[in-house]
Amino acid sequence: MIWDFISLKKGELQLPQMDSSQLLFFILMVISASEYSARAEPACKDRSLKSFNLLEGESFHYDPLRPQGRNLSDEAFMWYKNSSQMEYISSDEKKRIHRHSAALFFLNLSTEDSGVYIGRYKTPTGDCHKYPLKVDVFNASYRMNEKLLYGEIDNSDQNKMVRCPDPLRKVCKTMNGTFTWYKDFSILEGEHEADLWRFNASKDHEGIYTCICTWKHNHMVYNSSGSRKLIVMEPLVYNQTPLIVLNKEQIADEGSETKLNCSVICGFNVRKNCKASWNVNGIPFNKADGYNQAINTVDEEPSKKTISTAILTIERVSAKDFQDEFKCIGDGYYEEVSAILTLKQRETIIPLVIGGMCAFFLCVFVAIMVKCFAIDLALLFRPYLPLSRHNKDAKSFDAYVVYQMQSGDNVTEDTLCKFVTKILPSVLEEKCGYRLFIHGRDDIPGEDHLELVEDRMKQSRRLMVILTPGSGSGMGVTDKRPTSPQNPVVGGFDWQLGLHHALFQREMNVILIQLGDTGPQGYTHLPPGLQHLIRSSAPLRWPEGSRGAAAWNSRFWKRVRYLMPAKPASKSPKSAII
Ligand SMILES: *[C@@H]1O[C@H](CO)[C@@H](O)[C@H](O)[C@H]1NC(C)=O
Ligand SMILES: *[C@@H]1O[C@H](CO)[C@@H](O)[C@H](O)[C@H]1NC(C)=O
Ligand SMILES: *[C@@H]1O[C@H](CO)[C@@H](O)[C@H](O)[C@H]1NC(C)=O
Ligand SMILES: *[C@@H]1O[C@H](CO)[C@@H](O)[C@H](O)[C@H]1NC(C)=O
Repeated sequence: MIWDFISLKKGELQLPQMDSSQLLFFILMVISASEYSARAEPACKDRSLKSFNLLEGESFHYDPLRPQGRNLSDEAFMWYKNSSQMEYISSDEKKRIHRHSAALFFLNLSTEDSGVYIGRYKTPTGDCHKYPLKVDVFNASYRMNEKLLYGEIDNSDQNKMVRCPDPLRKVCKTMNGTFTWYKDFSILEGEHEADLWRFNASKDHEGIYTCICTWKHNHMVYNSSGSRKLIVMEPLVYNQTPLIVLNKEQIADEGSETKLNCSVICGFNVRKNCKASWNVNGIPFNKADGYNQAINTVDEEPSKKTISTAILTIERVSAKDFQDEFKCIGDGYYEEVSAILTLKQRETIIPLVIGGMCAFFLCVFVAIMVKCFAIDLALLFRPYLPLSRHNKDAKSFDAYVVYQMQSGDNVTEDTLCKFVTKILPSVLEEKCGYRLFIHGRDDIPGEDHLELVEDRMKQSRRLMVILTPGSGSGMGVTDKRPTSPQNPVVGGFDWQLGLHHALFQREMNVILIQLGDTGPQGYTHLPPGLQHLIRSSAPLRWPEGSRGAAAWNSRFWKRVRYLMPAKPASKSPKSAII
């Protein structure tokens, strides 16, 4: 009972009025109490710390010994606040904080009441227990703070039960209070049970639910509250097989950074069971290897589609990475799936350009080669071409050679004579096997000239015209000059007949060979038919005196041979008549 009259506050000992015997008794009690505490303190067992976050202005009741709470003497149970000095809590009903037996009352809390309170209990058997209680009092502006919530309700139940937090239920039961419910700090009329039900919960039911217990103490009304957050989840939909969204190939540059994106779609609202990740050559990625992985799983708003994305960052792409196998793994609720990505080196256009240039130069080279060696090639392949067989006609001569002897210039005549009698036969006849009919050489004296020319021309495949630098006299004049055995090679009739065959009957091809220069007047001295031929195909110029001109495989002779029939005329029985 004595403890009822004293409160040790700030070191002051307040003594009630008493007589001397009472004072003596009091002193004895103080000494015994201090001895008691000195003795009992080391033997006290600490119970676990209970902690409550409370709101300013509200009230609270706490009894550590409930439900077996008894009417304990002050000696058996005492409360004090564990501040720098012990503040003993008295049972003075007028105090905002006072005790009843083991129970502690906090009325109209203020923030200064925050702190640790310790209840010390000495059991009838002599054991000692300490009940530490931590109280944090928050300003009313904190009422939505997470710290003042007794957790969240986020189960997948269709009907949700919001249970008034246990400490509040205890207060209400002990103090015989009544419940009132609030949602988001607005009153829910008619709700006075300890448990609040929300049936067929929808998104609208989400919010902070507060139960307030209103209780009476010494005819005064006090409130205690506790809040919880209700979360209504959308229905969960798991895909049987997660879906991987991935490019099979990715272009990268060696030496630069690249990011690989692996996305997995697992369903709806299932972000807890959906994970994308990367695997390199069958081994989970390793940061030490210069890889860095970031995984992010979200329920997209508002669709709630669950997508997990793993971004693998390769800080510097190496040559090895182009051989590596990058596996994107999607781990869903039921199944795990995977897909392979390979890195491809970016193709530069340099090889293409080089290839194109090579092809171009090759074409140019081939074109040049064909241009330079077309005649050689034609000569080489001519015997095998089917066209060459076409030549098999009954003609006995390959070419009928005509030339002009009236230049009056000795040098030219020598050259012509040498060419016609020596060089031409030595190459075309001896080396190449052609049969030529050369005027002057092959005429049989006494034969009728006109008849002879006509006949030989008909039997020749080509008309070979040897042009010499023009003399002042035109062909037209020579035409009328009589031929003589000494100078049998006159253009006149031969020309006319040959040109007639070549131009009008198209029986003979003409080969024009130019000896020496054309002279200042060009070809104007020639008959018009011949001029026309010269215009359509330029004469081959005999490179007199140049090295190798006489050789049968020189460029000049190749061109001549090219114009000659493919196969020399065979010595037909008809030719034996000659
Ligand atoms: C506790 O005991 C005291 C006397 O020892 C008595 O006056 C009081 O009514 C009792 N309280 C309860 C709640 O039993
Ligand atoms: C009580 O206070 C003292 C000193 O202020 C401190 O060392 C001790 O840890 C406190 N006890 C509890 C349970 O908070
Ligand atoms: C206590 O709670 C009741 C019921 O919710 C309410 O009407 C009253 O205003 C509250 N009193 C205080 C002081 O907060
Ligand atoms: C990864 O790919 C997904 C699906 O294609 C896409 O939605 C996302 O934006 C990509 N992320 C990055 C960082 O490229």
